[in-house]
Amino acid sequence: MNKKLAISVPVFIVVMVAVLVTSIMMNNKGNNQGGETMEKTTVVFFSRTNNTRKIARMIAKQTNSDIYELTAKIPYTDDDINWHDENSRANREQNDDSARPEINSIPDVSEYDVVYLGYPIWWGTMPKIMNTFIETGALDGKKVVAFCTSGSSGIETSVSALEGYGLDVIGSRRFDASATESEVESWIKEF
Ligand SMILES: Cc1cc2nc3c(=O)[nH]c(=O)nc-3n(C[C@H](O)[C@H](O)[C@H](O)COP(=O)(O)O)c2cc1C
Repeated sequence: MNKKLAISVPVFIVVMVAVLVTSIMMNNKGNNQGGETMEKTTVVFFSRTNNTRKIARMIAKQTNSDIYELTAKIPYTDDDINWHDENSRANREQNDDSARPEINSIPDVSEYDVVYLGYPIWWGTMPKIMNTFIETGALDGKKVVAFCTSGSSGIETSVSALEGYGLDVIGSRRFDASATESEVESWIKEF
């Protein structure tokens, strides 16, 4: 082997390894914590009284994900979410199959493979603003991991609703408002 070739072959190998390592590291951004897959994750949530927001932030932190909040174009006042008043906005919406509260800004989640989707339970299921979001088609073809907070109700009814839209729900979990980082962490490890 001539001298020039003897030097340039190892240099070429070193450069190729560096390029490979860099590209693996860049692809890993937004991975789930296990780092076993190359999937990009994000968190999309709606929260009116901060309980779901708290869990959403923990998930985003632990999975190194971007996070997007869905907010209503007409914000929900305290009166609007008074479930003791059968005429409150939230109660009327939850009882109205056609209610689709407008969202301020629909997040573009096209670059993500897995979406952690969070919401409070309102009258046993997800708030109608989630239907508005889902019907944009933003979650079509994604893996969806649903999470919620509630007083006591489970997440099952809302998961059936998500599946009714044909969404691929690969996991779901209800959390107490007081859920801890470690509870969230041990659940996240499943994905
Ligand atoms: C209109 C309305 C209806 C609710 N319905 C239920 C319910 O059916 N079951 C339940 O366990 N909690 C119910 N809750 C309680 C919320 O699910 C709970 O407080 C949740 O943690 C609020 O989440 P957020 O702070 O992210 O908005 C309801 C709350 C509201 C405002």
